[in-house]
Amino acid sequence: MPRGNGFLRQEEFTEEYFFKLSVAFCPVCTMVQLTEQPEPERMFNGNYPFFSGSSKGMALHFKRFAEEVMTDYLTTSDPFIVEIGSNDGTMLQHFARAGVRHLGIEPSENVAQAAIDRGIRTVCDFFDEDLARRIAQENGQADAIVAANVMCHISDLHSATEGIKILLKSGGVFIFEDPYLVDCLDKTAYDQFYDEHAFLFSVSSICHLFKEHGMEVVDLEPQETHGGSMRYYVARRGLRGTSPRVTLAIEREKKLELDRPETYDKFRRRCEESRDQLMDLLKSLRRQGKRVVGYGATSKSTTVINYCGITPELVEFICDTTPTKQGKFSPGMHIPIRPYEEFLTHPPDYALLFAWNHQAEITEKEEKFQREGGQWIVYVPEVKILAPFKEWSLKN
Ligand code: SAH
Ligand code: TMP
Repeated sequence: MPRGNGFLRQEEFTEEYFFKLSVAFCPVCTMVQLTEQPEPERMFNGNYPFFSGSSKGMALHFKRFAEEVMTDYLTTSDPFIVEIGSNDGTMLQHFARAGVRHLGIEPSENVAQAAIDRGIRTVCDFFDEDLARRIAQENGQADAIVAANVMCHISDLHSATEGIKILLKSGGVFIFEDPYLVDCLDKTAYDQFYDEHAFLFSVSSICHLFKEHGMEVVDLEPQETHGGSMRYYVARRGLRGTSPRVTLAIEREKKLELDRPETYDKFRRRCEESRDQLMDLLKSLRRQGKRVVGYGATSKSTTVINYCGITPELVEFICDTTPTKQGKFSPGMHIPIRPYEEFLTHPPDYALLFAWNHQAEITEKEEKFQREGGQWIVYVPEVKILAPFKEWSLKN
């Protein structure tokens, strides 16, 4: 598998990096994780192509997240908030504007610079135990630490977890969210697995992890973002009451047999079926002479495109609003990435919704495409064609 965000130029094709993407499950701690991951510096560097602010829906999500944290957890006189994986500062800007002492930790130089340019205090480095110690010495400990879609990226999870304990005030809270294993299995969303996602967390695996570091999950809040995520509230053990939601979620995960290898075998079979159905559909549209264009050059789409074997003959190009991706090619299969405007000037018969996790935002924005007869192909939770007023499943 190539890197999920490894969009590249034609002259880079011969040096393209590949690794073995395989997923393992630990029956002891119930963690689901990749067995191999590229070096962090290969993924997170000055060319990181994902900017949090590229989705309006996510920007609004982070505004609400920041407001909740400020109201509920930053109640001391001069609170200090740290965000791990702060990217372009989409979330931290709200704390900065409110005059809250803040610090972002972001190793990818280009997105970190975008945050610094907006006046957001940012350290350009990888968060781990050593950095946590340094930050605590220089700034004092944090009242709250937040992290979105980043803990699952950190292969040395024990160092990051210990770092959180070091950096957090004894009564402080660590609030983080990541894609949730139950949603991934439920929706056969196998595209959650790509190089950057070293882990796919469940409540059980997260409880196990923090217990090992003298902390505990005290509350949870499911999120609709990224196709289904879980927000975890973590504190030092014994300092805060634990919500019944935590026990209920663990019981539910047990009922869903997340602790049994057979569950993952069944998931694999559903992935294979999904792959076959999508390829049958794309090949059939190709035979009918229909034009199919990909919508959103997401990192997740790299797994779908390479696992299924989707070639530029089947998908003509992928449109994306991110300038750094435009003019490049998709990792592995080398489908051209074009500016979003080409979707408007050359609307296809079918748009393959690679950014399916932004479906509501996108279908609302593309009302004209649908009105003029354009149709969407989705593959999560199942392969189907959506029509403006009609929706049918291939299974029917
Ligand atoms: N929080 C943002 C960005 C998520 S993308 C959002 O939800 O939109 C993951 C981010 O984590 C990237 O910007 C990446 O550079 C950063 N990252 C990866 N490893 C990290 C580490 N060890 N410490 C801090 N940030 C890290
Ligand atoms: P994500 O799934 O990791 O959030 O990535 C979304 C990608 O899709 C990102 O490259 C931006 C792109 N995108 C569009 O091109 N148009 C849109 O309307 C949205 C919401 C995203």
